[in-house]
Amino acid sequence: MKRVLVTGGAGFIGSSFVRHMLRVHDDVEVINYDKLTYAGNLENLREIEGDPRYRFVRADIGDLDAALAALKGVDTVVNFAAESHNDRAILDPAAFVRTNVLGTQTFLEAARRAGVGRFHHISTCEVFGDLALDEDRAFLEDDAYAPRTPYNASKASANHVVMAYHHTFKLPVTISHCCNNYGPYQFPEKLIPLFATNAMEDKPLPLMKSSQNRREWIHCDDHSAAVDVILQKGRIGQAYNIGTGVEKSVEEITGVILGVLGKPASLKTYVADRAGHDRRYLLDMTKIRCELGWKPAIGFEQGIRRTVEWYRDNPEWWKRVKDGSYQRYYENYYKKVLAV
Ligand code: NAD
Ligand code: TYD
Repeated sequence: MKRVLVTGGAGFIGSSFVRHMLRVHDDVEVINYDKLTYAGNLENLREIEGDPRYRFVRADIGDLDAALAALKGVDTVVNFAAESHNDRAILDPAAFVRTNVLGTQTFLEAARRAGVGRFHHISTCEVFGDLALDEDRAFLEDDAYAPRTPYNASKASANHVVMAYHHTFKLPVTISHCCNNYGPYQFPEKLIPLFATNAMEDKPLPLMKSSQNRREWIHCDDHSAAVDVILQKGRIGQAYNIGTGVEKSVEEITGVILGVLGKPASLKTYVADRAGHDRRYLLDMTKIRCELGWKPAIGFEQGIRRTVEWYRDNPEWWKRVKDGSYQRYYENYYKKVLAV
């Protein structure tokens, strides 16, 4: 049995990866190491409840003693744990540096002391900064980082620390930069689940003013499959982009959501841009395609329709998540960030 420890496995993408590993591999045990912040939800793992190859540890990646205890006998670490939302980083940048930079360093240190065979770090296209809407270029793995938001800066800093642990301490690391994910169990603060759930409640969909800004979109299960391939075939010390080439603007995504749910365009409302609203990200996928033979399996049209239908069919999940604490956060955000 191979023992894989996944940090942030109760979050949106981490839970997809935990489900993927247990579904695809018979010879894998998974430890889910998660602090359960507002974004962590064990209901995201209800499909694997009771699986004897799965274990949950509630702890912070910044807690060295807890990390050392959990890492006993672990072969592979996959580090998904992070503060992940750009809007929240405007309100509390320190939390992002604490978890994404210091927390990652602490976990790297624990992994080094425990002698793990592989540390894979989950990064983002956003470390490379943004592109103009008409720019004829995509980010390459070796491009210089040029982050523009506190979230992106914390993720870029973490990548530097990961590579420093490789060069200095010979920790066997890999990194992946992925584009924007969609799929079930995404916390309804991000574009797609926020708009889908608001539409179902006949609440306004707050499109930021620059609604032609666009993102490259991937289904979270494709992201999970790509990370699995990197664990199997990726070269130590290398970074790999994980993308699809499918770009959609905020307007286009909104149109798809309203169309699937049969809701009117009058729900669209235009609000101020977030501070530092990045225009566009796009990844060059040549390396992962040519070197590892990976490409996405889930087409955008089918994937996004199935995703919106999943939110439609699982109201008990998102209604519990969209509780009072979420409302308080949003009120605070709109008062403090957009109104000033
Ligand atoms: P998420 O916010 O849904 O989940 C984050 C998880 O990490 C939660 O379960 C949370 O409880 C846990 N966590 C947070 N702080 C922790 C700490 N200090 N110790 C232990 N656990 C902690 O995030 P997500 O969207 O699933 O993103 C997962 C990873 O993928 C992140 O590293 C993110 O930067 C990266 N990523 C996300 C996207 C995207 O589109 N969502 C795209 C590219 C990369
Ligand atoms: P988001 O889901 O926050 O992801 P990221 O900032 O990491 O790309 O935002 C995706 C896009 O949707 C981005 O251009 C901002 C826009 N957006 C809105 O217009 N309104 C919203 O309420 C949210 C959450 C996002």
